[in-house]
Amino acid sequence: MAADKIYPPSPEFVAQAHVSGMDAYQELFEEAKADPEAFWGRMAQERIDWFKPWDKVLDASNAPFYKWFTGAKTNMAYNCIDRHVKTWRKNKAAIIWEGEPGDQQILTYQELSRRVQRFANILLKLGYKTGDRAIIYMPMVPELPIAMLACARLGITHSVVFGGFSSEALKMRIQDLEAGIVITADGGYRRGRTVRLKDAVDEALVDCPSVTNVIVYRRTGEKVEMQAGRDHDWEDLITDMPETCPAVELDAEHPLYVLYTSGTTGKPKGIVHTTGGYQVQLASSMKWVFDLKDEDTYWCAADVGWVTGHSYIVYGPLLAGTTSVMYEGAPDYPEPDRFWRICAKYSVNVFYTSPTAIRAFIKFGEHFPNRHDLSSLRLLGSVGEPINPAAWEWYHKVIGHERCPIVDTWWQTETGSIMISALPGATPLKPGSATFPLPGVLADVVDMDGNSVPKGSEGYLIVRGPWPSMFRTLQGDPDRFVKTYWSQLDGCYFVGDAARRDEDGYIWVLGRVDDVMNVSGHRMSTAELESSLVRHESVAEAAVIGAPDELTGQAVIAFVTLKSTYEPSDELAATLRDWVGHEIGKFARPKQIRFSEGLPKTRSGKIMRRLLREIVTQDKVTGDVTTLEDLSVLNRLSTTSGED
Ligand code: WTA
Repeated sequence: MAADKIYPPSPEFVAQAHVSGMDAYQELFEEAKADPEAFWGRMAQERIDWFKPWDKVLDASNAPFYKWFTGAKTNMAYNCIDRHVKTWRKNKAAIIWEGEPGDQQILTYQELSRRVQRFANILLKLGYKTGDRAIIYMPMVPELPIAMLACARLGITHSVVFGGFSSEALKMRIQDLEAGIVITADGGYRRGRTVRLKDAVDEALVDCPSVTNVIVYRRTGEKVEMQAGRDHDWEDLITDMPETCPAVELDAEHPLYVLYTSGTTGKPKGIVHTTGGYQVQLASSMKWVFDLKDEDTYWCAADVGWVTGHSYIVYGPLLAGTTSVMYEGAPDYPEPDRFWRICAKYSVNVFYTSPTAIRAFIKFGEHFPNRHDLSSLRLLGSVGEPINPAAWEWYHKVIGHERCPIVDTWWQTETGSIMISALPGATPLKPGSATFPLPGVLADVVDMDGNSVPKGSEGYLIVRGPWPSMFRTLQGDPDRFVKTYWSQLDGCYFVGDAARRDEDGYIWVLGRVDDVMNVSGHRMSTAELESSLVRHESVAEAAVIGAPDELTGQAVIAFVTLKSTYEPSDELAATLRDWVGHEIGKFARPKQIRFSEGLPKTRSGKIMRRLLREIVTQDKVTGDVTTLEDLSVLNRLSTTSGED
């Protein structure tokens, strides 16, 4: 194999970096490894304000239900806003927002503070308090972080539901959380059209008795149903609200949010994050990975509905006191240069996006970024899926003009903050590798017995022991938390990804080892899609696999066996794709439906997805078929298919 191309950080970047040179990284890493509690205690003191200090940095007495900074009192909204308002940052831009139609709002820390406190007063007036739960289902408007921060201020645990999710997915989340309130909007803008959200809320709420109030922010101005007594206009409520509402002194372990993500079963998991430890590690990663300086303008071009947006559009940047750009719409609207137009317009210095987006930009062509002055950029980031070296090289050359380091950041909804990543002023980069764990993260690549694999080998990615921003449990299902994540290897967190450690010790994350797919950086489980398909009246059985896809990383291919009264057709394939779109969300629609008379199964009745994967990727089965119950099924896997 040819030697990997290595990009060392430039001397100029090293000279100004927070972590300057590989020795500095090693020193921090060793400090954390030698005494994690002392290390995280130091980080907590340096980076976060506390109303009351902790008794213990880490309580591992009931592992894996670890607790961090026990006894301490703090508040996320206070740390994101109030403490900055007391400094020169008061009139610094906190959020620079651009709507898809081109409208714009710049919120200073003071203005954000006023809006958050006024909205928090609405929540109080409606009777909500610490310990209650709120669902937030909004487009990418400033009112979305405002709602999150108002909840955080009062200790109301929020769950943001991505605006692309359907009413069914929304309903499941409201019910699981037994939320008392839904904060939503009439709709939002996407690719020049409006996406209606309030209709989906109305549909979901038919079966959600726990919800007694709905607050509706008017974004599009389209007419929506308002149920008297239950539904309120954001603007009507906010008018008379006072601008002060003190931050509640919350326990460090108070649940900040629950974010649902796909696991290997049909039911999404509610990932529970708490306050103190999450703040500490998030603020640390902002400094180490994004090397943020006070004069930087930072843009994470994700959606707040996913964990990347929670941690790196809202909480991380505000904790760091930075200026965070937020954009409502599609990257190719009105033209495929929108992102670069925004970078140039606001002189963005640090830009963070996904490999799927980068691959789409490659397809659109270099002339779109080349139209704009991108000279303000000094650092680029990537997240959500492995970045293929070709996309890395393009990003480096065309967007970064060979001047900007690229941080390929590996992490998960569960980990809360970035875990494996280059530090831009320290780590020599290899395109496609997330490189090394951050200080305080004992990530390793191991075999089935938990032994570290030798250099040059593949294995399972794990994390040895707890970290402050880790999720604390699964909402309503602590047993599944233990079983899924902490039972494979003693004291280790089982990630669910495969990885390779190369000859130089670099970590290369290869992809999932379970039945979770990663489509455009969105996690989806095969079981979730299959159970949606079999709920359709025509479907007897379904098996879903993720096939490699040049643009989206993986694409959803569904093998479907119809009930005998139905005939395969392109129309039915289209109906089934729309059905999944309606049940889960448009982004989950299968790329391809393949009708098949039967599905390959083992004698015990388990669907052999491996064989289906081989059929899709190689057009034939080459692997072992001795456990297959009925060989003739393979020949009967019809080629009838419908595609988008
Ligand atoms: C994948 C997104 C390779 C991985 C923050 C992980 C990555 C899952 C990377 C988590 C990366 C994320 N390189 N793979 N830099 N970042 N992944 O929960 O499979 O939506 O387990 O969190 O995305 O997805 P999630």
